[in-house]
Amino acid sequence: MLTTKKLGLVLAAALLAAPFAASAQEAAPAAFNQCKACHVIGKNGVGPNLAGVFGRKAGSFDGFKYSDAMKAAPAWDEATLTKYLTDPKGTIPGNKMVFAGIKKPEDLAAVIAYLKVVK
Ligand code: HEC
Repeated sequence: MLTTKKLGLVLAAALLAAPFAASAQEAAPAAFNQCKACHVIGKNGVGPNLAGVFGRKAGSFDGFKYSDAMKAAPAWDEATLTKYLTDPKGTIPGNKMVFAGIKKPEDLAAVIAYLKVVK
């Protein structure tokens, strides 16, 4: 049973979380600059639209011509993104993203945190 006090806490938490999520969506971390040449949030470019990519099956955004290798890859979560963004070619051989990989752990963490919230 949800008591009035508990409900109040839940509502307070939701109110606190909402503006945080909104600002995180707007502010791409500096580390995302290295992705922008190919990834435009909100539409497909050289690379697919990355809005809502976290939790999505790899290679499944409508209207983008993915490689067969990308279409065969699993869904994007913390583990699959960490591997792929560190070593795109080695993790999904045959995928067509021409990117060497993110080298700094703090950049990787910032980019993944961003991909989790960007819609
Ligand atoms: C030179 C262009 C280029 C750069 C730079 C680049 N990407 Fe990509 N990315 C692509 C292409 C092309 C694909 C599709 C690959 C395929 O279909 O094999 C892709 C695919 C992806 C996917 C899978 C998307 C899906 O819908 O399954 C993710 C996630 C991703 N890129 C993240 C990033 C991030 C984060 C960066 C920067 C750290 C980055 N990419 C930099 C071109 C690029």
